[in-house]
Amino acid sequence: MNPAELDYIILGHVNPNRATTLKVLLEKAPNAVVVCSNPAAKALEDLLPDQLPKIQVVRGGEAEIDLGKGHRLRFIPVPTPRWPEALWTYDEYTQVLYSNKFFGMHLCDNAVYDLSWQDLLSDRRHYYDCLMAPNARQVTAALEKLSAFTVRMFAPVHGPVVRYHTRELLHTYQEWSQQQKGKELAVTLIYASAYGNTATIAQTLAHGITKAGVAVESINAEQADPEDIKTALEKSAGFLIGSPTLGGHAPTQIQTALGIILSTASKTQLAGVFGSFGWSGEAIDLLENKLKDGGYSLAFDPIRVKFKPTESTLQYCEEVGTDFAQALKKVKRAKAPRTPASSVEQAVGRLVGSLCVVTTRKGDASSAMLASWVSQATFTPPWLYRGGGKRPGHRIPDVPWQSFRAQYFGRRQSSRPDEAFFETVWPWRRSLCWN
Ligand SMILES: Cc1cc2nc3c(=O)[nH]c(=O)nc-3n(C[C@H](O)[C@H](O)[C@H](O)COP(=O)(O)O)c2cc1C
Repeated sequence: MNPAELDYIILGHVNPNRATTLKVLLEKAPNAVVVCSNPAAKALEDLLPDQLPKIQVVRGGEAEIDLGKGHRLRFIPVPTPRWPEALWTYDEYTQVLYSNKFFGMHLCDNAVYDLSWQDLLSDRRHYYDCLMAPNARQVTAALEKLSAFTVRMFAPVHGPVVRYHTRELLHTYQEWSQQQKGKELAVTLIYASAYGNTATIAQTLAHGITKAGVAVESINAEQADPEDIKTALEKSAGFLIGSPTLGGHAPTQIQTALGIILSTASKTQLAGVFGSFGWSGEAIDLLENKLKDGGYSLAFDPIRVKFKPTESTLQYCEEVGTDFAQALKKVKRAKAPRTPASSVEQAVGRLVGSLCVVTTRKGDASSAMLASWVSQATFTPPWLYRGGGKRPGHRIPDVPWQSFRAQYFGRRQSSRPDEAFFETVWPWRRSLCWN
């Protein structure tokens, strides 16, 4: 195909690393209109100041382009903190969703399609954990938009085209996102990043945290609404804030976010600071000092990364994230009220001798009894021998049971059950016993 004949270039997201590629393509396709979201258009103004192409901004989901022969393209903005400019494209004729980062994976092999669900699942999970989990709220919102479309295939920018397992993958994404949102502990991770370095650190910290079973609400301060920052902080057990240093300062949005933290976050929340810098790193010092002066405890020494983080720095960041999550769990455990043992638990604790509680069930009927020992008598029907207990009502009914379970409480020195146990358990046992 002759690039000069291209009418449109659709940008699913804007990556500064690819600006050169885009420049070259635009030189070869001077008539092409770039179709993108509003944040992407703004990013292009910064990236291509001298070579700004014709741009068609799509908003809100109602935008479409008719390419003819049934190929009507519809556009769905799906912003996340990491990719505020992200855009899906849906072709009505082929029912293919060009899903950009969603439903992708970092896998390079010869298979064009997702032939095996099982073989790909662990890579998919890793990709989701790294790139999607910290944005679970926005991922869920994006998935909800899909209900209006019949999708036959997902065509992501990384990994195979999803042709055979679209439903499973959609369902799995919903489930994973739900799991993230349902986690008991959450961390608010606020950052800004002009060239992507601080964003990479943020993403890696987030991965370390989610790996340890703690949810992350990732917030890109450049796009965030102050109310969203407040709400996230109020729901979090800890927060992290990261900033690049530009002209000796933290960007204005980070200063605003810091103000919100200082006025919203409880002093009991654990905190952490990180950032990429070039030579002086004032922004990181500012964040550290303001938080310390504000009475917050920093869970780790601020992470200062000169320009682009190396592989080993990223590994360190991931470990810091995991340690941060573990520290939050520890604090939570320490704060958890100790529930006093119930009278039954106290009584059982004082028991001497071997003792079992046998529970049985058939249909809606269930039964329980005490026994000093239990063993299998027959398999068909499933009868039990049990020993001990001379009181009335200790009999297991002479009918086959669908299930039974013997809970063994251990063997102590004497075989005489403690009276306290019977006092407490007896009424309960009688009410369940089926004579
Ligand atoms: C316009 C500009 C100004 C900068 N000013 C500083 C500075 O005052 N002190 C410093 O340590 N680094 C400075 N840097 C370097 C950045 O902090 C560094 O490139 C960092 O990796 C950017 O992080 P980011 O990729 O998250 O935006 C500057 C960079 C640029 C482009």
